[in-house]
Amino acid sequence: MSDGTADIGVIGMGVMGANLALNMAEKGFKVAVQNRDPAKAFAVRDDNPELAANLVPAETLEAFVQSLKKPRIAVFMIPAGKPVDDEIERIRPLLEAGDVMVDAGNADFNDTVRHSREMEGTGLKFVGMGVSGGELGARHGPSMMVGGAKDVYPLLEPVLTRIAAQYQGTPCVAWLGPDGAGHFVKTIHNGIEYADMQMIAEIYGIMRDGLKLEPAKMAEVFRDWNTRELASYLIEITAVNLDETDPETGKPMVDVIVDEAGQKGTGRWAVIEAEKLGVGATTLEAAVAARGLSSRRSERADAAKLYDGVELGQAQFFADEAGLSELESALVTAKIIAYAQGYAAMAAASDENGWNLPLGTIAEIWRAGCIIRSHFLDDIAKAYDKGHTVVNILQSPDFVGRVAKGQSALRRVVAKASLGGIPVPALAAALAYFDDYRRERGTANLIQAQRDLFGAHTFRRFDKDGAVHHQWPAV
Ligand code: 6PG
Repeated sequence: MSDGTADIGVIGMGVMGANLALNMAEKGFKVAVQNRDPAKAFAVRDDNPELAANLVPAETLEAFVQSLKKPRIAVFMIPAGKPVDDEIERIRPLLEAGDVMVDAGNADFNDTVRHSREMEGTGLKFVGMGVSGGELGARHGPSMMVGGAKDVYPLLEPVLTRIAAQYQGTPCVAWLGPDGAGHFVKTIHNGIEYADMQMIAEIYGIMRDGLKLEPAKMAEVFRDWNTRELASYLIEITAVNLDETDPETGKPMVDVIVDEAGQKGTGRWAVIEAEKLGVGATTLEAAVAARGLSSRRSERADAAKLYDGVELGQAQFFADEAGLSELESALVTAKIIAYAQGYAAMAAASDENGWNLPLGTIAEIWRAGCIIRSHFLDDIAKAYDKGHTVVNILQSPDFVGRVAKGQSALRRVVAKASLGGIPVPALAAALAYFDDYRRERGTANLIQAQRDLFGAHTFRRFDKDGAVHHQWPAV
């Protein structure tokens, strides 16, 4: 059917694309759907008879474009990178001035900036939109981070606000800034997602190897934690993961899963961008690195043999109320530090690119729908809502007290884990960052001295203005 009546179109009928289209159709929008293999687009309609009236599958890209109302809105939900480049090339000649392309995949924001520039002067509009929440989120309400020309957002807003997750009646979607802003924010979301998951996994490691708890007992603890400060989707699913039994062996499901983590790259991009901006998102970096090391399983097994029986320190974890509460407090504190790093990266990117990112709004639209959704994000939103500049979450009055109180638990947990040989790279990175961040006099003076000695790179003195070089003794 090519009658120009569809409100919006979705290209790419993979899991995310199909679910996003179904979500739109359910909210009353007429949605054109297309796929390289058109049979998939027809299947989405035929498999969902209750929504079929609102789904318009197209045999060809031409038919898809013709079925859209003007100005046309074509949402790409396809793999990032070359597939997006190719899709733009295919659809561009079919569109006309005022039409909008929305890349809703997990794109590298640098590509989104490039695409936006390519469209300048053509009349075509390009929007980069981060979508979080996985399959269920896409179907019933994701969190969406929109970047692109501001005047295009009103065209998308009626659909996006209806399909978004709602947090106490507020839709979890917002226009965040021009060109790559939305995809950059999604990238940082994913970096934080990695850090959150890694820190939870490290606490699980302590429970397994330090406390010798069974997964079902751990599930109980995580369920309990989910009623307080840590309440979040990731803590909730962790309890579910730990409680599950493998139907084939009767063993806890987590014990039959190979300890090698996959990754599609967005967490790594977050770290690369943070480093480029001179913001060390060390907790996120530790999480990315840990995934990398996890995948070298046979190498780890060899190393385990080589270092079997190395001397470890004396430090014990206890599975009593105080011991578990110490773990909880350590995780809360490290989480605040990880988010502070992610937010610092966004603040720096905002300055660098002139985006003027609304950091408080970002916390607001992450409160529901996305993978890192939590009550804690409401605390961050409130910290930014006070009207004053938040230099860093770690300097926000709302968090200083919490970190000051929780840091000793984090310190004890990291110290004990290290003595006991239980790796906690992300928790340790959070603690080290905190200690470095709160130290007025650092040690970079020595680095400056070294640089000046071997390369005459100069340094600044406390007692004089300007850069100077010192004549160091010859070495
Ligand atoms: C989301 C997620 C999602 C991501 C998966 C897997 O916000 O819905 O971030 O976009 O693709 O979490 O990512 P990795 O394969 O890199 O773990």
